[in-house]
This record gives sequence, C-alpha cells and structure tokens, in this order.
Amino acid sequence: MAFEHSTIEKNIGLMMLLIVLTISVGGLVQIIPLFFMKSTTEPVEGLKPYSALELSGRDIYVREGCYTCHSQMIRPFRAEVERYGHYSLAGEYVYDRPFQWGSKRTGPDLHRVGGRYSDEWHRVHLINPRDVVPESIMPGYPWLETTELDTGDIKYKMKVLRNLGAPYTDEEIANAPASIEGKTEMDAMIAYLQRLGTSVKTRR
Ligand code: HEC
Repeated sequence: MAFEHSTIEKNIGLMMLLIVLTISVGGLVQIIPLFFMKSTTEPVEGLKPYSALELSGRDIYVREGCYTCHSQMIRPFRAEVERYGHYSLAGEYVYDRPFQWGSKRTGPDLHRVGGRYSDEWHRVHLINPRDVVPESIMPGYPWLETTELDTGDIKYKMKVLRNLGAPYTDEEIANAPASIEGKTEMDAMIAYLQRLGTSVKTRR
C-alpha cells in the first residue's frame, strides 16, 4: 500500500506525532536565531550594570512584590509609546536577573519612570501614595524610610552577577558595602526607580 495522506488521517497517533514535529520546527526556526542576534543579546549602548545602591533597591522591589501591580515592559504600540515613552528594547534588560517584566498592570508601567518625578516625590509617594495621588490604591511602604540597608551580602550578589556577565570591576565589588553604608531602603528604592529606563534616549 502506498503511503498516502489518508494513511496519516486514519492514524491519529501518527498524525499527532507529525503535528508536534511540524510545530517544533516552526518554533525553533523563530526562537533559535534570537540567541545569536545582536539586538537581543547585547546591551544597548551605554548600559551599565546596577550600582550597589540601585541593585539593593531592585532586590527590595522584588521583596515587596511591586511586580504584582507594575510591569516593566513598554510594548511597541502607539498608545503605550505616547504614554510611557520609547518602547522597551531587549538590550536594556541584559543585566536584569531576574527581569521584572511582570504581567499585571494594576498601576502604570514603570520601565521609563526614571527621571519622571523628583526623589522627594517618590519618598512621599512610597510612604503614603495618597499624599500625592489622592485616588491611588497603591499600598504605602513606610518601613522603607526607617529600615537601614543590610550591607552584608551585597559583595556576593555582585560577584554572582559578574559570573553571569555583568562587568563589575574588583574595585566596585570591594567598595560596594562602604558605598551603601548608612543608607536606608528608601534611598536604595529611589535610586533604582530613578535609574529605570534611562539608558535609552526617549522623545519625552
Ligand atoms: C496593589 C497594587 C500596587 C502595588 C503592590 C504597588 N503599586 Fe505602585 N502604583 C499602583 C497604582 C494603582 C498606581 C497609580 C496611582 C499612583 O500613582 O499612586 C501606582 C503608581 C506608582 C508609581 C508612579 C508611576 C507613574 O508613572 O506615575 C510608582 C513609581 C510606583 N507605583 C512604584 C511602586 C513600587 C516601588 C512598589 C513596590 C514597593 C509599588 N509601586 C507597589 C499600584 C501598586
């Protein structure tokens, strides 16, 4: 019996196998080149790894679960670009481990919030959002202001990130604990927020 299309149609096991094979090839053709394309693997021009203070702020951002209400991913649609600024580029996240793209926007996207407000605005907003945005439903984080940063593990965090590709120098790592000594968690959080999305020139 010749192998005809009807053979596949009558044999559901074979059909499933061939469907999976077809989809895998289609998927791999799209995915594999991304690992080798410069625009998705190389940092955008001028991108620096997070400073010790910014990195500490980033960890607090993760600890407090800010990503459950805020995304950091501006999609290339007109409505988003007009509201938030230049859409996000893959090369901006090279030193983000883990990245904070998020998938829930109860609040606005934060990828280009850096420089949009003063440090003082952030301080007041984080202590009690309703002091600056009366209708806000964001919770307050007053303890950030009164908690001193833990300097104990910053060196190790930076070393791990260096192993993963962040270009920290020995000097930066050695000076890290001293550079955040006496700072509060609020200082770190604000430094992190003010840095967000500032590596790319935007039209705003
Ligand atoms: C329950 C959801 C929720 C959580 C959790 C949350 N936020 Fe928000 N956030 C909002 C909402 C809603 C707004 C818009 C109203 C406002 O500005 O307060 C907002 C606004 C902001 C803004 C101003 C953005 C802009 O472009 O105007 C910043 C900055 C911000 N949040 C940072 C944070 C940080 C940092 C954390 C974690 C410590 C956090 N948020 C946690 C809901 C949330």
